[in-house]
Amino acid sequence: MRIAVLNGPNLNLLGTREPEVYGRTTLAELEQLVRAEAGRLDVTLSWFQTNHEGAFVEAIQGLRGQADGALVNAAAFTHTSLALRDALLAVRVPFVEVHLSNIFAREPERRHSRLADLAVGIVAGFGPQGYLLGLQALVAKLRG
Ligand code: DQA
Repeated sequence: MRIAVLNGPNLNLLGTREPEVYGRTTLAELEQLVRAEAGRLDVTLSWFQTNHEGAFVEAIQGLRGQADGALVNAAAFTHTSLALRDALLAVRVPFVEVHLSNIFAREPERRHSRLADLAVGIVAGFGPQGYLLGLQALVAKLRG
């Protein structure tokens, strides 16, 4: 099984970016944690991060035929991007929406996701652990 992890803008700054909100784990460390869990689950993992909306759209378009499912942390694009929504509608790859922070306990503009109703499920508020929970849940769902 092939799972793609797609990370959006500013997540490359994890570790130093607002650590009181996002913790001190870097993106590279997060990738290692997720890759280790993917190994335990016998899943092939691809990992992607971009600060650019168009690149994110292209990454989603590229999932078709290449991934059985995805973990998506679209970061700020979660709250704004019809283009990402349209791309996810077009490819119809099952995905779990992941957020390090609990977006529903934050500023009003973060409490709405333009992607969430398309997701298999959402994990928010558990920091890096949320990626592992999301991966486990997605794989279990896909394996039926
Ligand atoms: C985030 C939450 C978003 O609101 C924010 O813009 C991010 C990160 C999270 O993982 O908690 O950049 O997606």
